[in-house]
Amino acid sequence: MSTHIRWLGHSAIVIVTSGKTVLIDPFITGNPAATVSADEVAADFILVSHGHGDHIGDTIEIAKRTGATVVTNFEISQWLLGQGLENVHGLQHGGGVDLPFGRVKLTLAFHGSVLPDGTYGGNPAGFLIRTNDGFTIYDAADTGLFGDMALIGDENVDLAFLPIGDYYTMGPEDALKAVKLVRPKHVVPIHYDTFPPIRQDEKAWAEKVRSETGVDAIVLKPGEGFELKKS
Ligand code: NI
Ligand code: MN
Repeated sequence: MSTHIRWLGHSAIVIVTSGKTVLIDPFITGNPAATVSADEVAADFILVSHGHGDHIGDTIEIAKRTGATVVTNFEISQWLLGQGLENVHGLQHGGGVDLPFGRVKLTLAFHGSVLPDGTYGGNPAGFLIRTNDGFTIYDAADTGLFGDMALIGDENVDLAFLPIGDYYTMGPEDALKAVKLVRPKHVVPIHYDTFPPIRQDEKAWAEKVRSETGVDAIVLKPGEGFELKKS
């Protein structure tokens, strides 16, 4: 068994684990950083953190093409059913679901969640994923800093995805505080540079994370990935 991670730019992440492809927040069409096109990405499961267009992205098209099951909050799951999708899980914060590759739980996120057509999208979420091969992955998605990230830190997080872009989410300084609360083994910055208001110096942030926390900060270029290893 192995777990492979790939970042597609912005908040779009691919996790291949237990032979399943898990696609998170697949904003590909219209994403200036994307190096792939929506009609070529694989998915068995699609995780959608909230309703904003830069997260729900190509979910409908990809789910229809691949037959992937979507995991999201209840309100977005109902909206997706109305868009013609059939396989959806509509969770709420603190709730999780056991899937063939592991368990997905919805975590808190402080942000908005309206859907592209103005429909109420419920509350935004992050994801805590436990893979069958023993990795714990936290994707904070779009959020500001909050103290209860320390509770997520108690879950022995192997890999965290944290937004550093500022403006719509926490910026570099709060994301550094988030690293100290979540205490992951590895951290990957996301949600930066895609649009002018969220330009950041990700390398400087990663250097600061390493020197202040000792956490392995991994800066990826869109399209790049790595194999998650037990250390
Ligand atoms: Ni958002
Ligand atoms: Mn966003």
